[in-house]
Amino acid sequence: MYAETPRDAPAWRARWRERRASFHADDQSGVWRFRELLPVLRDARQAVTLREGNTPLYDLPHCGRDAGLERVWAKHQGLNPTGSFKDTGMTVAVSQAREAGRAWLACASTGNTSASMAAYAARAGMRSLVLVPAGQITWSKLAQALDFGASVCQLRTDFDGCMRVLHQVAARHSLYLVNSMNPFRLEGQKTAAAELLEQMNWQPPDHVVVPGGNLANASALGKGFLELQRWGFIARAPRISIIQAEGANPLVRSLREHQGRELTPVEAKTRATAIRIGNPASWQKAVRVLRETGGYCTDVSEAEIAAAKQAIGREGIGCEPASAAALAGARKLARTGAIAPGESVVLILTGHGLKDPDYASDMGLASLPPAMEASAEAVLRALERA
Ligand SMILES: Cc1ncc(COP(=O)(O)O)c(C=O)c1O
Repeated sequence: MYAETPRDAPAWRARWRERRASFHADDQSGVWRFRELLPVLRDARQAVTLREGNTPLYDLPHCGRDAGLERVWAKHQGLNPTGSFKDTGMTVAVSQAREAGRAWLACASTGNTSASMAAYAARAGMRSLVLVPAGQITWSKLAQALDFGASVCQLRTDFDGCMRVLHQVAARHSLYLVNSMNPFRLEGQKTAAAELLEQMNWQPPDHVVVPGGNLANASALGKGFLELQRWGFIARAPRISIIQAEGANPLVRSLREHQGRELTPVEAKTRATAIRIGNPASWQKAVRVLRETGGYCTDVSEAEIAAAKQAIGREGIGCEPASAAALAGARKLARTGAIAPGESVVLILTGHGLKDPDYASDMGLASLPPAMEASAEAVLRALERA
């Protein structure tokens, strides 16, 4: 499946770094420059890429101080081309689908997968079908899929219902499914582990904290770190911790009630729409990652997510509510002593702040300022009140 078995970590690290300066699109991609970690394409130069990956790692000094932690960073995967981490997996899945001669891509989505799939389908000259739960997807995300030319069906059900219908349609119409159980997506998403380690000079952080919905991202990151450990790039993998919303916490319940041996789907309710998933497809993989890396799994309230989003905003960084769950979770893990004050923590911010612009007003965090007289005096009065 892989191009060759990794052996020479220093040489590979140098190769990955040097590719960034190359003219070729696949070298400039923060996914394909790590192509030794990926399933091979017949022609690597045929990758369907929007130059995904290569996302920044920000320090969060204020968030860290508030949580009693000395070293907190955010890897902002929301700064990918369509505004979420999904692009890092989609580039690999769509490249494989095009090479296999497939015409139609399809997914069920809470919004970001559809935006990403639609963009890569357009880039590849392919058609795409999106099934979304009616009225539960932010307009920003739906607008992206429509912009990129996807056929969008809003179904009167939830995400899990959309998945069910998708499988029924796929049994009767030729579709290449790019939902997170697609193995190529996980392969692409795992390259974020290599990229993060490169940014940290190959010194792994103690903790990586990631929001969990369908649990593919946590599984992919775990795979990435554990492979790099096995292949001698790092001496140890970080603990990978998964954070769910209290109203959409099937993995937390599974671990609490069944030691992660079985999972009972829940009816998911959270304003963090991207993680409103009650029957996560990749829960068994996620349990393995928690066990193998020694990570934690916990849930956070709607108020904790909102407060965390506001705190990240005060660092000048926008993110989706679902992404803010990572900080809310890290705060909780610090409170309970699972994360020690001196340990280093990387939060994975999974989506862009503009994906859900109504969140702040819906949660009572901000409201539209009233229109006022166009005069310096009026503005000065407002300044005095600020
Ligand atoms: C912004 C955002 N954060 C987190 C998640 C959860 O990722 P996963 O479903 O892989 O657990 C998603 C998934 O849709 C997402 O779009």
